[in-house]
Amino acid sequence: GTTLKAAAEANGRYFGTALEGGDLGAPGETAVAAAQFDMLTPANEMKWDTIEPSPGAYNFGPGDRIVQFAKSHGMRVRGHNLVWQNQLPSWAANLPLNQVRSAMESHITAEATHYKGQVYAWDVINEPFNGDGSYVQDVFYRAMGEGYFADALRTAHAADPGAKLYINDYNIEGVNAKSDALYRLARSLLAQGVPLGGIGLESHFVLGQVPADLQANIQRFANLGLDVAVTELDDRIQLPASGAALQQQAADYAAVVKACTAVSRCVGVSQWGVDDAHSWIPGTFPGTGAATMYDGNDQPKPAYYAALSAL
Ligand code: XIL
Repeated sequence: GTTLKAAAEANGRYFGTALEGGDLGAPGETAVAAAQFDMLTPANEMKWDTIEPSPGAYNFGPGDRIVQFAKSHGMRVRGHNLVWQNQLPSWAANLPLNQVRSAMESHITAEATHYKGQVYAWDVINEPFNGDGSYVQDVFYRAMGEGYFADALRTAHAADPGAKLYINDYNIEGVNAKSDALYRLARSLLAQGVPLGGIGLESHFVLGQVPADLQANIQRFANLGLDVAVTELDDRIQLPASGAALQQQAADYAAVVKACTAVSRCVGVSQWGVDDAHSWIPGTFPGTGAATMYDGNDQPKPAYYAALSAL
């Protein structure tokens, strides 16, 4: 039969996954990653705490190993991420506010320069909004206010002009207060000529709760002239997963894939991880799991066949 990546490519799109460094030693998982997916996101290895654990001391080895895996299997890479309040080392989170801008610019420049030409896209800014559409009051916002978005995007663009530059967030998949706030920010950045290229919809869904207006929401961002990507798809189930739940999950995956393929500027879908055995979901949302298209033995689930036929 065909594969997710072949079907996506036939549609002018990609189908991606995410791996952690430790996953590179898991034979079943890496075999599926290489066979089925043509885009790869490092789950943790390009985050600030790994890349720059102390000021100006850069550690690119773990990220380089993910990039090497991608290259050797013909996959492109989504760089993830440059600026985020989480997985931010305490030295950066606790900087005097008048030193934050230069630390942020140095970090972005060093990382985006190191990976120049090797990443298809960067999540330049990750998760900047609260659920009500207000800004997270992290060190970047406290130091620079709204101005940090333009500054971060311009700095990344200067370092790697070939990469598509994204803002990525969760709970922005449907039309709601949070996605409305992001929409206004995106429109304003574009009006100022800031090199924003895309919007990442993380898409960490709960079974049966894919928003009915997902496609409409993708379309409104596309209408601004932006690419849109589903960047971290999973669909968590209360454990143990029943047969009916796995069927609902198949419907959920099909709905997400169809919402993307219906909008020409929706460039691809990435699942967050390969299989249920290595997914981040059970550790973060206890009692839930079975959130991916592959079971714990790397066998395809109903969601896999549904995603494939929706492409
Ligand atoms: C998660 C990783 O998968 C975990 O291993 C880590 O402990 C926490 O971060 N949104 C994001 C991702 O943008 O970076 C997160 O990844 C999942 C939520």
